Parts: sequence; C-alpha cells; structure tokens
Amino acid sequence: MEEIKLLKLAEKAKENAYVPYSKFHVGAALLTKSGKIFTGCNVECASYGGTNCAERTAIFKAISEGEKDFEAIAIASDIKGETYPCGICRQVILEFGRDIKVILGESDGEYKIFTIEDLLPYGFTGADLEKGK
Ligand code: THU
Repeated sequence: MEEIKLLKLAEKAKENAYVPYSKFHVGAALLTKSGKIFTGCNVECASYGGTNCAERTAIFKAISEGEKDFEAIAIASDIKGETYPCGICRQVILEFGRDIKVILGESDGEYKIFTIEDLLPYGFTGADLEKGK
C-alpha cells in the first residue's frame, strides 16, 4: 500500500537527521501527483532559528526540482504513534493545496491519514492575499 511505502521512506529518511541539539530525528516522504517521491530530514543549527523541519526539507527539495503538485506527505519520528507536523510545516504544506494527504504513524503499526485542511482549518492562503487587493 502506498501509505506504508511512504511511511517506510520517511522512517529511512529520519536516519539522516542532523539533530545534535534535540536528538529528535524526523523524516518525511513527499509524493508528487506525477508519482515522484522526495524525502527529507530535519536539519538543526546552533542558532536554533536556522533549524529546518523534515517536512519542509522534502517540500523545498521538490520545489527546487520543479515539482509543486503534491499528493501526500508521510512523517515519522522517534516517538511511537503519530508525529504531527508543526504549525510552520502545516502552513507550508497548505501553500500547495488543501487536499494534500498527511500520513502519520508507523509503517509496521497503526497510522492515520488527514488532509492538510483537517490539520490547519481556516488557514491563510494566497487566496486571502488576493481578496485584499
Ligand atoms: N521537527 C520536524 O522536523 N518536524 C516537525 O513537524 C516538528 C519538529 C524537528 C525540528 C527540530 O529539529 C526537532 O524536530 C525538535 O523540534
């Protein structure tokens, strides 16, 4: 099943997490509508604000390779059960579509699927900027 494959790739991606400060490994696997997959891990920085989450690493890799139509993103971390994306990552995922599926949990256990709109209801988007013009 596609969700399990994506979760497995997210679990693999977290092995590359650069987390000398939090020691909290996060991985993400992003599926494009064209069927490509981009993975990402969190990358921390001694100046903490420079840290980039796994989800945004995967998204920025995809965007920089010319892909912006996303189907789903799976997220994995060191905790058992679901790792919910942070607020900044929810906003960045929403940037690319309200229907993007967010897959949370474990490849060999239980997982949940939400849309990004479930996780960020009433989110601010480019459509709001247009209304202000
Ligand atoms: N982190 C992510 O990679 N994704 C999230 O959605 C939550 C937080 C990372 C950032 C930081 O490296 C570590 O987890 C602790 O916050």
